[in-house]
Amino acid sequence: MRRMFVAGNWKMNTDRAGGTELARAIAKAVPADAAVDVLVAPPLPYLLPIGEAIAGSGVALGAQNAYFEPPGAFTGETSIGMLKDVGCRYVILGHSERRQVLRETDETINKKVAAAVAAGLGVILCVGETLDERDGGTTEKVLETQLSAGLKSLAADAVSDLVIAYEPVWAIGTGRNATPEQAQAAHAFIRSWLSNRFGPTVGAATRIQYGGSVKPDNAAQLLGQPDVDGALVGGASLKADSFLAIVQAAQQVGAARR
Ligand code: PGA
Repeated sequence: MRRMFVAGNWKMNTDRAGGTELARAIAKAVPADAAVDVLVAPPLPYLLPIGEAIAGSGVALGAQNAYFEPPGAFTGETSIGMLKDVGCRYVILGHSERRQVLRETDETINKKVAAAVAAGLGVILCVGETLDERDGGTTEKVLETQLSAGLKSLAADAVSDLVIAYEPVWAIGTGRNATPEQAQAAHAFIRSWLSNRFGPTVGAATRIQYGGSVKPDNAAQLLGQPDVDGALVGGASLKADSFLAIVQAAQQVGAARR
């Protein structure tokens, strides 16, 4: 059974005091034995204080990016080993903002995924189509390209800790979430692609989060779809109340599935 997994992507938001307070409030409500996996991914400079704020709780620490090279002359970059060193369990890779604003290619993303997997750092790999691509009927083709390029040359047993986040670009930060049916269709496609590429065991075990304007009032419906195993939450992860309401929805769906 796939455990529900709710992750908060804080993006370039919060400050040290506010982020720490937010993390504390979330950690207080998520005990170590919680029935869902919960992650917060704060901005890089706050990883250490946030890590301290969530210590002992059921909330894990994640980063929003990493570089694939080992330590060396790469000004401004952060190695995967450094993220592990400060307590990160996961790194979000291939987010659409990094693809579009920071011009990351599938090839770069693949190097990052491979390096994180090799180092034992969990990966949330984001994929998703733009509005033009959806309107043009190429959603599945885009997902297939991003998945096959992003996971290129990875062995089936190396993807066990991998999480895919389906994030339609048109739904991110827009308040316009995918309908539960649209999300389910894309998730089912991703799962069948994973089964074909890595085998049915990997396909059945891999968690696929939905991301894009997930809010307390749409979380239960989105998470209730059979191939939706959690959420990657942006805006609504910046307030403890709204993030915890989504965690609660995941908990209820997870309990109903068992
Ligand atoms: P949003 O962001 O929830 O603010 O739409 C989701 C994401 O970018 O991961």
